Amino acid sequence: MRALAERQTIRTYGDKSLSPHVLSDLLWAAFGVNRSQSQKAGLGRTAPSARNRQEIDLYLALPEGVYIYEAEPHRLRLVAPGDIRPKTGSEAAAKAAVTILYVADSTKAGGTGTPQFAAVDVGFIGQNVYLFAASEGLGAWFRATIPDAAGLSQILKLRPNQQILYVQTVGYPAVSR
Ligand SMILES: Cc1cc2nc3c(=O)[nH]c(=O)nc-3n(C[C@H](O)[C@H](O)[C@H](O)COP(=O)(O)O)c2cc1C
Repeated sequence: MRALAERQTIRTYGDKSLSPHVLSDLLWAAFGVNRSQSQKAGLGRTAPSARNRQEIDLYLALPEGVYIYEAEPHRLRLVAPGDIRPKTGSEAAAKAAVTILYVADSTKAGGTGTPQFAAVDVGFIGQNVYLFAASEGLGAWFRATIPDAAGLSQILKLRPNQQILYVQTVGYPAVSR
């Protein structure tokens, strides 16, 4: 109830980073594996997805580089070195610990989904992130506005069937919660 009461969008951040433990929990809460078998075939995740296609990948812009979250082993894999946080939004977003880039993979959707399904699937993940952030004294900021999505797609080495739909910044607020 407290997490729900405190959920809100925060738009100003300090530059304190997340500990590996908090980052790990954030990712698990967002879209981690929470059971070995769901009703539909495949691993169960903390957020639902249409037909359990799990077509959303989480890329992470951290100060040291861009990583992809591999949920099944629960680990990060480096995609590209370098700090792309300034490219994901305003100066405030560049300062915050991490920005999650939500990438839809239409191949994983199997051609049977609709673009709305992917957006809804991101919404569930984004709310998990908001609630986790509220419970940890972190801020979160979900955005559809992405200044240079094409440029970011290149850095992320996305295939034509992949698209950045939204981003969500997470970090310690400038004024602590
Ligand atoms: C689909 C979606 C897109 C959004 N895009 C942006 C955005 O581009 N920039 C921004 O500052 N906030 C964005 N927001 C955050 C909303 O502005 C915010 O949730 C709303 O003002 C309500 O504030 P609250 O989250 O504090 O309750 C977006 C939220 C959603 C759900």
